[in-house]
Amino acid sequence: MERLKSIMAAAAGVSLSICMQPQLYADEGMWLPSLISERLGDMQEKGLRLDAEDIYSINSASLKDAVVLFGRGCTGEVISPDGLLLTNHHCGYAQIQRHSDVEHDYLRDGFWAMSRDEELPNEGLTVSFLERMDDVTARVLEGFSDGMSGHQRDSVVKANSAALVKEATSGGKGLKATVEALYYGNQYFLFIYKEYSDVRLVGAPPSSIGKFGGDTDNWMWPRHTGDFSIFRIYAGKDNEPAPYSPDNVPYRPKKFFKISLGGVEEGDFTFIYGFPGSTREYVMSDEVRYVSEVSDPMKIALRSLRLDIQDKYMSGSRDVRIRYSSKNASVANAWKKWQGEAGGIARLGTVAMKEAYEKRFARWSEGTRYEDVLPQLDSLYALLGPYMFAREYYMESANTVELCAFARNIAATVRKAQSDIGKAPEQEDSILAASGENALKTSRAFFRDYYLPIDKESFIAVMDSFDKDMDDKAKPQYFKDMTAQYGSIRNWADTLFATSVFTDSVKVKAIALHQAPLPSGDPALVFAEEFRLWYDSAIQPVCKRLGDEIALLYRSYMQGQMEFEPDKAFYPDANLTLRVAYGKVAGYSPADGIIYEASSTLEGIIEKDNPEIFDYDIPQRLRELHAAKDYGRWAVTDSNGNTTVPVCFLATNHTSGGNSGSPVINADGNLVGINFDRVWEGTMSDIAFDPDYCRNISLDIRYVLFIIDKLADAGHLLDEMVFVE
Ligand code: ARG
Ligand code: GLU
Repeated sequence: MERLKSIMAAAAGVSLSICMQPQLYADEGMWLPSLISERLGDMQEKGLRLDAEDIYSINSASLKDAVVLFGRGCTGEVISPDGLLLTNHHCGYAQIQRHSDVEHDYLRDGFWAMSRDEELPNEGLTVSFLERMDDVTARVLEGFSDGMSGHQRDSVVKANSAALVKEATSGGKGLKATVEALYYGNQYFLFIYKEYSDVRLVGAPPSSIGKFGGDTDNWMWPRHTGDFSIFRIYAGKDNEPAPYSPDNVPYRPKKFFKISLGGVEEGDFTFIYGFPGSTREYVMSDEVRYVSEVSDPMKIALRSLRLDIQDKYMSGSRDVRIRYSSKNASVANAWKKWQGEAGGIARLGTVAMKEAYEKRFARWSEGTRYEDVLPQLDSLYALLGPYMFAREYYMESANTVELCAFARNIAATVRKAQSDIGKAPEQEDSILAASGENALKTSRAFFRDYYLPIDKESFIAVMDSFDKDMDDKAKPQYFKDMTAQYGSIRNWADTLFATSVFTDSVKVKAIALHQAPLPSGDPALVFAEEFRLWYDSAIQPVCKRLGDEIALLYRSYMQGQMEFEPDKAFYPDANLTLRVAYGKVAGYSPADGIIYEASSTLEGIIEKDNPEIFDYDIPQRLRELHAAKDYGRWAVTDSNGNTTVPVCFLATNHTSGGNSGSPVINADGNLVGINFDRVWEGTMSDIAFDPDYCRNISLDIRYVLFIIDKLADAGHLLDEMVFVE
């Protein structure tokens, strides 16, 4: 039966392409802003009322100047002439947590700066504006000739890129640049950013709003999460990037988003500007099969073990809950996404569809220079499989033991200082001081959020699985020796966690300050180092070598695919560079007999409200506002004629991780929402976009304004914004 199904799916794939012009599915695509003019016709046909220059321009202010890369993996947008910045609650989560303790619990209670001097600085947080992006393929490949090996080509690319980056960043404060390969190195773009490093926390709703529904609702519809937080960018008096200083002033942006109060309706055009992190839409069936049948299930199982342990301790103690909230959220997030991804790939029949495509490609490529690409990829994938499995298993097991990672971290800092002193003995004092400060910072962060029983139980659970799931031949000798010596993982853990000095903050402090010797035989340190040694010598080099060969072949396969389907509009895989996605507001049907509407309202929050369930226990103030229908100017009338407040909506924009916090923009270029999620039936869109199931989830901007206005009483922030009725 399964076989029959896949044959039918394969057959369907073939006939589809015969009777239809090869073209892109509606709304699939993450487009390069500098080339947006190529999509403009389609965008305007679907409703856009802007020109290409309004979206991206290097001559005048355009919407791109109001979008930032927030931290290392989110997006944010500027919404006032004084540098006010919106992003997701989960994107600012680490900052909110860092300012919190049991007395000032901003995660639980929210935080609102009532004046500018109450805004909280955040060490290490940066935001980057894209100044410009340019196709530099010719310059990057200068000096490259056909006879060169892949390796030689790589060094040409590296050297030329370094020169381009140097040139691009020499002229001003905060300039950063990268050269990124697109289409597996068929094209190269230079991205020049301006990075601001004084970014202060202005406001965050309580988690009971900002994380409403928690991990139960995460990746799901119907959704009611008020997933936003507010920051402000500060600059030097010249409006240029400057490190934190009380003398800095609010940044004056070239462009900021005006906010639409008109809302959205099913069918409305929307587009998204943001930094999607990583997709692989053009990979072979082999890779998709590995992801959905091997990798995702393995990672899901290992994380289930850890999550159960975390949940057990977090539900028993508020202190542990705060300490593990951020870690738990990130472990749970990917865990759930992978479930949707594996399920979506299976339902869509992506493996069979890709196989059918590959058959057609193979036939077409006979006698061309692409003839050998697929067979070669296929055999490389067969070789790579077991190593990739070992690598991912390690990353999800031994490498997740917090104590051991911490020990390795401290040891690395201490040893680096020792070797630096060896090289420059006259600088001993300053090297020791810097290293001590560094190690103490690591140590403070570790102990603040650490809870040994969770770590120890997780160690036992994941290492037991490692023992069962890994081939004996593939296990590190050290692991086999230790399990033989202790008789069980549990006994091993008992000793390791009872005797390691890295559980003792006082002793770690002495080591960090070079007052006590580094205990190189410490069991936690040895565990981390032995596993890393095994990974670095037996696993990683093979993954790297095969991965490089595969990447090289993908350059040809990608080029081949473009020649094979000359009429198809291709877009480069996401790589955390700025992209535009566009689509329309739309519900979907997740299963037979169910139809999801495209928007949710405050009524749904009240339906879910339950003081007994942590994820659904809303602030009392929200209950009161609802009871009194005290919605002020944020009230709308829903389809049933009720007065309510809009909360979230669905659309068909093609987004990925990194698009969190992205502005959702209407046909006139005004802000209507903040992107924060996808529906989990559609999370395979990183590999295959299915227009029936792939939806991004956005927060309706009017809910954000309602919370600021009515729940937080922070109306002074609204005075900075510009509204469009
Ligand atoms: N799924 C969203 C994303 O991928 C939100 C994650 C944060 N929320 C959570 N409950 N873990 O980032
Ligand atoms: N929440 C995701 C993020 O952090 C966005 C959801 C997605 O993966 O599309 O970027």
